Amino acid sequence: MNVIWARSVVSLVLLALVCAALTAFTNLKIALIVAVIVLLAQSAFSTFHKQRLWRLLDAPVYGEVPSAPGVWGEIYYRLHKLAKRWHAQVRQVEQQHSRFIQAIQASPNGVAMLDDHDQIEWCNSISEVHFGLDAKRDLRQHITHLVRQPDFVKYLNSHQYDEMLIMRRMGEKRQNVLSVQVFPYGENRKLVLSQDITELERTDAMRRDFVANVSHELKTPLTVLSGFLETMRELPLSDEERARYLELMDQQSTRMRHIVSDLLVLATLEGDNKHPGDQMIDMRAVLSHLEDDADNLSSDHHRITFDCDEGLTVTGVETEIMSALGNLVTNAIRYTPDGGTIRVSWKAERGSAVFAVTDSGLGIPAADIPRLTERFYRVDRSRSRDTGGTGLGLAIVKHVLQRHEAQLEVKSEEGRGSTFTVRFPMSRTARRMPAPV
Ligand SMILES: Nc1ncnc2c1ncn2[C@@H]1O[C@H](COP(=O)(O)OP(=O)(O)O)[C@@H](O)[C@H]1O
Ligand SMILES: [Mg+2]
Repeated sequence: MNVIWARSVVSLVLLALVCAALTAFTNLKIALIVAVIVLLAQSAFSTFHKQRLWRLLDAPVYGEVPSAPGVWGEIYYRLHKLAKRWHAQVRQVEQQHSRFIQAIQASPNGVAMLDDHDQIEWCNSISEVHFGLDAKRDLRQHITHLVRQPDFVKYLNSHQYDEMLIMRRMGEKRQNVLSVQVFPYGENRKLVLSQDITELERTDAMRRDFVANVSHELKTPLTVLSGFLETMRELPLSDEERARYLELMDQQSTRMRHIVSDLLVLATLEGDNKHPGDQMIDMRAVLSHLEDDADNLSSDHHRITFDCDEGLTVTGVETEIMSALGNLVTNAIRYTPDGGTIRVSWKAERGSAVFAVTDSGLGIPAADIPRLTERFYRVDRSRSRDTGGTGLGLAIVKHVLQRHEAQLEVKSEEGRGSTFTVRFPMSRTARRMPAPV
């Protein structure tokens, strides 16, 4: 027997005893009147609290416990305890849900959930960007009404999701490439995962281009070389002809060697993510080396001047800086016809070290300037080749300068000459103390 029954029985027994006593001491009529009054009062009390409970259940106020004597107080308290437990459980589920949403939002991939009618139930912000959706506005919209690309519609309706779908011309500027895959789950529901692979595709295309370029660059001298070899093997040649052929073969093999060695330099630079360090470069030695090389290459065919602030220096890797600046000087000589002038300067400008090479040479068409630092890019292929160029020099320059946080600036006018300027950052610019006299 539970408490409610027990209390009801006890109060009825008490009432019966009181009525019996009243009957004995007064009369039955008075006892019956008292019993009716007590029962009516009990019924009114119970109706009042039923009504109160009803209102409470209709519009519960969390945390508010109505007070009442006896069983009703107990009922209210128990209800309050129950509500508290449920509230805690709901809060826990809500927290789990919100952590789950946060985790999916943090994902670098787009995630969209579709119901059994392919309507959007939820999507994260990356998915909004990928497909141009709006998580709030497009809720419960059929996804193919919003993502209308025929490939996507066909893929979604095919129910064959083993392979991913590549979608091109996506995003606001219609320049992105997405890889999309659908994963069915639950009762006919679908998860649409998307990943932006624009950059991946671009580097892949660059890698393919690069391999094609390298093969092409090596194939040409190799074809010439094997042609000469065949000629030498099959034709009776005079000593003079043989010597000339050998000389030409040597030129081709030197060209291949230069290409391979420049490629190795580039690969080393690209693979080296280490900071170039803060070693002060012996700029005086570098400049004098550059001057000697320039004189040798020009063999007095150009007027070359060096105007240098010898105390000025930069920090970094000396061999890299020497090769980058050397490349600009040799380019100036190689792309300037005999009789031209080349001016090299090394000065501080507003606290930054600036290296500039100005030539009076062929100049570069404006359209070619932005592409000069691409690997194997040449304005004039035959001139580059004739002067022993590989087309990789400025690509190496770009890498070295990037590593040293320096900027390359190219100004040129076709037929009048060019100026290649390298600006080092102030943080790398330094000054050497003059040697004691
Ligand atoms: N000083 C310059 N004057 C004119 N053209 C230049 C000069 N420097 C570079 N170029 C052009 O830029 C191209 C790329 O230079 P670079 O990467 O050093 O390769 P290359 O091995 O051909 O010299 C050259 O082929 C040439 O057409
Ligand atoms: Mg060069």
